[in-house]
Amino acid sequence: MSTANLSQPGSIKVWDGGVRLFHWLLVIVVAVAFLSSEEESALNLWHIPAGWLAAVLIAFRLVWGFVGGEHARFWNFIRPAGIGAHVAGLLAGRAHASAGHNPLGALAVLGLLGLLAGTILTGIAGGEDGHETIAYALLALVAVHVAAVVAMSLLTRDNLVRAMVTGRKRADRLPGVRDARPPLPLALPLAALAVAATAYLAVRIDPLAFTPHATESGEHESEAWEDDD
Ligand code: HEM
Ligand code: HEM
Repeated sequence: MSTANLSQPGSIKVWDGGVRLFHWLLVIVVAVAFLSSEEESALNLWHIPAGWLAAVLIAFRLVWGFVGGEHARFWNFIRPAGIGAHVAGLLAGRAHASAGHNPLGALAVLGLLGLLAGTILTGIAGGEDGHETIAYALLALVAVHVAAVVAMSLLTRDNLVRAMVTGRKRADRLPGVRDARPPLPLALPLAALAVAATAYLAVRIDPLAFTPHATESGEHESEAWEDDD
């Protein structure tokens, strides 16, 4: 079972390159999208391109969830039945390391991807109140996400951030677990196709999708709502 570990005995392969690249690019574009969101921001020109790039990344991740490496696959990490035991363990002070996402983390992943998709779709629709609200819900979940990553790193004594960089977790924390199966041979061309198709669609919907321009231009629907309730 564990012969695949011989190359690097102290650690096992968990995240493929696609997941890692996706994650850190996503962190960058979402950060840029937030920092540029105010019309007064010096970065405002980049808000819409950053948002569309986030859409391209989500398209990549959706395809990767079917053809990527073992722990990237949705069917492998979505395990709602495991959440109860996982939470009970945490409450009892026991935290088990997981090769991929833990059952609760998997829920957070879906929440992050869902809120991102909601933010992007409402942004494309014109960026009015709903857009900002969902974006702030996303920001709140990101804060929970980062706190959970730090907490689980301490509890399981393995640095999950480093794992998202190197793709490997400590083998001694995961007895009996072997290296993750790699992506399908056709994964890369399929993902590239999804990326190209989404970028093409983006420019069909909004010819300025990837061209720096201010968010106000052409998107004035000021009489929408009054803020008091
Ligand atoms: C990761 C994705 C995104 C995030 C986190 C995000 C976040 C935000 C936030 C927080 C605001 C409110 C700014 C304020 O305080 O006034 C905003 C405004 C806006 N966003 Fe986004 N956004 C994203 C994607 C997009 C996309 C894809 C588009 C369009 C294609 C877009 C178009 C706009 C527009 C037009 C506004 C201004 C709305 C207004 O002035 O009422 N956003 N965005
Ligand atoms: C804009 C901010 C962020 C977003 C939208 C985000 C989103 C995500 C998503 C969607 C995943 C699932 C990965 C996948 O299977 O594709 C993930 C995992 C992960 N993220 Fe983030 N993330 C953000 C910021 C961060 C930051 C700042 C850190 C580091 C402190 C971080 C550390 C991690 C780690 C370690 C995992 C893997 C967790 C595990 O082992 O199960 N993330 N993140």
